[in-house]
Amino acid sequence: EAQVRDLVESKLATIPDFPEPGVVFRDLTPVFADGPAFHALSEALTAPFAGRFDHLAGLEARGFLLAGAASALCGAGVLPIRKAGKLPRAVLREEYDLEYGTAAFEVHEGELPPGSRVLIIDDVLATGGTVEAAAALIERAGWLVAGVSVAIELPALGGRARLRDRFEVSSLLRY
Ligand code: PRP
Ligand code: HPA
Repeated sequence: EAQVRDLVESKLATIPDFPEPGVVFRDLTPVFADGPAFHALSEALTAPFAGRFDHLAGLEARGFLLAGAASALCGAGVLPIRKAGKLPRAVLREEYDLEYGTAAFEVHEGELPPGSRVLIIDDVLATGGTVEAAAALIERAGWLVAGVSVAIELPALGGRARLRDRFEVSSLLRY
C-alpha cells in the first residue's frame, strides 16, 4: 500500500484558493490521466473491504470514475448516487451542505436487492456531508452501508469524526 500511496501522491495536484479563497483543492485529474496510478488507486479503494460488500456506490461526479474503475477490477456492480433531477424513475432524495455550497443527492428506489451491502466510494472526504447524505439514502432504501472508502481525506474538516461511530472509514492519503 505504501507504493500505491507514493504513486498516487506523485500525480496529485494541489491548488490553493479553488473554488473559492481559503480552500486548498486536491485535484485527482492527473491521477485519472495516468493509467497505472488510476488502476492502483481503484484497486486500493476496495481492498480493505474485500468480502464485505456486494455493490459499490459512486458519488457524482468524481466518485463515478473511481467506482466504475473499481467495479471493473473487483466485479461488484455500481449504484450511481446522482445529483438531484437526473434519475428518471422514482427516487429518494437527501439534501446536504458542502465545504462550499449545498446540493442534493438521489437514488432510484429498489435499484438493489433489500439488504445489499454497499461500499461508498468517493475521491475526497472533507466535512463528510456528502458521504452522510449518501449513507442516509442507502439506509432509507433498505440497504446496508458496508463502509466508506476515499482516495483523500482532509481530517481538519471533520469528516471521519462525523462518520466513524456509524461507519468504517478508509482513506489512502490524508492532508
Ligand atoms: C466534492 C468531492 C466530494 C465532496 C466532499 O464533490 O468530490 O464528493 O465534495 O466534500 P464533503 O466531505 O465536505 O461533503 P462536489 O460536491 O464538489 O462535486 P463533484 O464531484 O460533482 O465535482
Ligand atoms: N478537493 C476536491 N474536492 C473537495 C475538496 C478538495 O480539496 N474539498 C471538498 N471537496
